[in-house]
Amino acid sequence: MKLPEKGLAWPEIEARLQDAKKGDFSWRDGRMALYYYYLDDALAEVQKRAYEAFWTENSLGKRAFPSLAKLEGDVVDFGLSLTNAPADAAGTFTSGGSESIFLAVQTARDWARATKGIDRPNFVVPRTAHPAFTRAGHALGVDVRRVPTTRNDFKADVAAIASKLDDNTVGLVGSAPCYPFGVFDPIRELGALAQARGLWLHVDACVGGFLSPFVKRLGHAIPDWDFTVPGVTSISADLHKHGMAAKGASLMMVRSKELKEKHQLFDFHDWERGPYVSYTMQGTRPGGAVASAWAVLHHLGDEGYMRCAGMIMDNKKALVAGIGRIPGLAVLEPSELSIFVTRSADPGLDIGAVSDAMGTRGWLIGRQAEPAGIHMHLNPSHERMVGEYLTDLAWAVAQARQSGARPQATGSTY
Ligand SMILES: Cc1ncc(COP(=O)(O)O)c(C=O)c1O
Repeated sequence: MKLPEKGLAWPEIEARLQDAKKGDFSWRDGRMALYYYYLDDALAEVQKRAYEAFWTENSLGKRAFPSLAKLEGDVVDFGLSLTNAPADAAGTFTSGGSESIFLAVQTARDWARATKGIDRPNFVVPRTAHPAFTRAGHALGVDVRRVPTTRNDFKADVAAIASKLDDNTVGLVGSAPCYPFGVFDPIRELGALAQARGLWLHVDACVGGFLSPFVKRLGHAIPDWDFTVPGVTSISADLHKHGMAAKGASLMMVRSKELKEKHQLFDFHDWERGPYVSYTMQGTRPGGAVASAWAVLHHLGDEGYMRCAGMIMDNKKALVAGIGRIPGLAVLEPSELSIFVTRSADPGLDIGAVSDAMGTRGWLIGRQAEPAGIHMHLNPSHERMVGEYLTDLAWAVAQARQSGARPQATGSTY
């Protein structure tokens, strides 16, 4: 791009931005299986207006913006109460799940170095744990060992994890739930192992943190995963996923203030400008994201989160039942929350070819690599697509059978 000679007025810029979006998939129609969370226009308006009210404020600057310190404190308090944290727990507002995970690995690493002298640290995690753990390990000099899950339920294999521990292991991970299959790892067993071996246990509730407590209250079976489980040291939970907040919002929570103050804090003095202290990877932080998350919590309230949870679980029930009626398809079991995987139950039917056919009808399909399948991560707005999705899926299966097609799409599934 070339900088225009003279700046453009907003109407022209707006038109160009809208034009730039033309080729995008339509999330409004629920045609995307990932990347967004939407309830209705009233919530979207609250997200945007609150963001705008703090659009240029910087939440690095607590002296300048005590408002943001207060709003962030409120959001963290809510996260801690939702996860049944002890009175002494602490939390941090971050830019997203990956940053929360990065901070968990860094804090655990520094805790283990300070308290046990471990200087070649490793983490042992189920293979289903989010790539952010390996990415954090790569940046932080922590060897992240991925251990295959049990074959029958895709959950962390605790015995296999235990067999990979050594004197340099600082921590374990369990997901609540994991992204590939939407199942909860056995956090109680992982907590017991962590306690027995003096390890850090991070629970990645980026997907489930702001959804599963409400789904549980609706009567669905949700395994225990929060701070009530002995041995859980830290939890990540994303406001910008099922917390329904604008993007750039997650929480990293730790069981005690001491862990945050001693091992998460970056406390720096060695330059001319004086002390610089921060608990996050980011320096400048968008105040808008904090204000927007705070506003969404207040707009939805308990009733709103219960409604979102109900819509998601109802949509899932309808979709799973409908998919079960399409010959050749099956939904992978178990699936405990907002994620499920559809696979081919017929050797003559290639699920990748079904995904390709869905793509030709404007659906952005989440492609599961192992086992090959169609990955769906539901949010409330998928309510509007259930009928059309099932009709198109039945059509796509027929297409794939007729052509005997092999899958065309390759490469990244993100
Ligand atoms: C279980 C889980 N953890 C962490 C993340 C990373 O979150 P983010 O994309 O906000 O960095 C995701 C994202 O999908 C996830 O599903």
